[in-house]
Amino acid sequence: MEKKEQLYEGKAKKVYATGDKNLCIVSYKDDATAFNGLKKGTIVGKGVVNNRMTNMMMRLLEKKGVPTHFVEELSDRDTVVKKVKIVPLEVIIRNVSAGSFAKRYGVEEGIVFDEPTIEFSYKNDELGDPLINTYHALALKLATKEEIELIKKYAFKVNEVLKEYFLSLGVKLIDFKLEFGKTHDGKIVLADEISPDTCRFWDVKTNEKLDKDRFRRDLGGVEDAYKEIFARVTKGE
Ligand code: TMP
Repeated sequence: MEKKEQLYEGKAKKVYATGDKNLCIVSYKDDATAFNGLKKGTIVGKGVVNNRMTNMMMRLLEKKGVPTHFVEELSDRDTVVKKVKIVPLEVIIRNVSAGSFAKRYGVEEGIVFDEPTIEFSYKNDELGDPLINTYHALALKLATKEEIELIKKYAFKVNEVLKEYFLSLGVKLIDFKLEFGKTHDGKIVLADEISPDTCRFWDVKTNEKLDKDRFRRDLGGVEDAYKEIFARVTKGE
């Protein structure tokens, strides 16, 4: 399958048309941003890690009954996916307090929750992706009630599967962000990526951060963190 014209360029990926109107090719870049694009940089090799890791996660989730946009990995950076209309909701699941949760509620990072939490942000860069509840999402017609219920169900299932999977690699899945899309025939599928850009991963023993927080917070060792998490996921392949 070949790339045709570029349809879209996001902060971390480009999307191309293909000869099939229902399929696209996503191409992962090494570009990194944080704080709604305010901080910019490059993480060498990130595109390869995020592409290959996302595809492994999508395959695993499909097997466990979560429908995804994944079709075929073409190369280190390029993947064929189903063309979807992205539901403009960022779905965030948390198992442990960190990041904006810790800041918003004035608690320390690292508090293990009895039950995972879910929250939504309205995916809108101009507004800075504001937090939104499901009533607001319905009022804004971002999705239907049924779609939101399905998205919630899938998101918690993703958490169940990935939490166990990462634990087997000696990694705590602290929190993550998902995006869903609607295919041409109206089916809700998991889209976007599942990578160190969109998840927080802490080493079980040391609590060392193996994710993009190393870039966001200028902790150093950014490339090494991506390499380390990638080595762990590919070891079991
Ligand atoms: P937060 O604690 O900053 O709200 O982030 C929660 C999770 O969502 C974390 O794993 C990082 C991920 N995330 C994204 O993937 N994209 C974003 O734009 C933000 C703010 C967070």
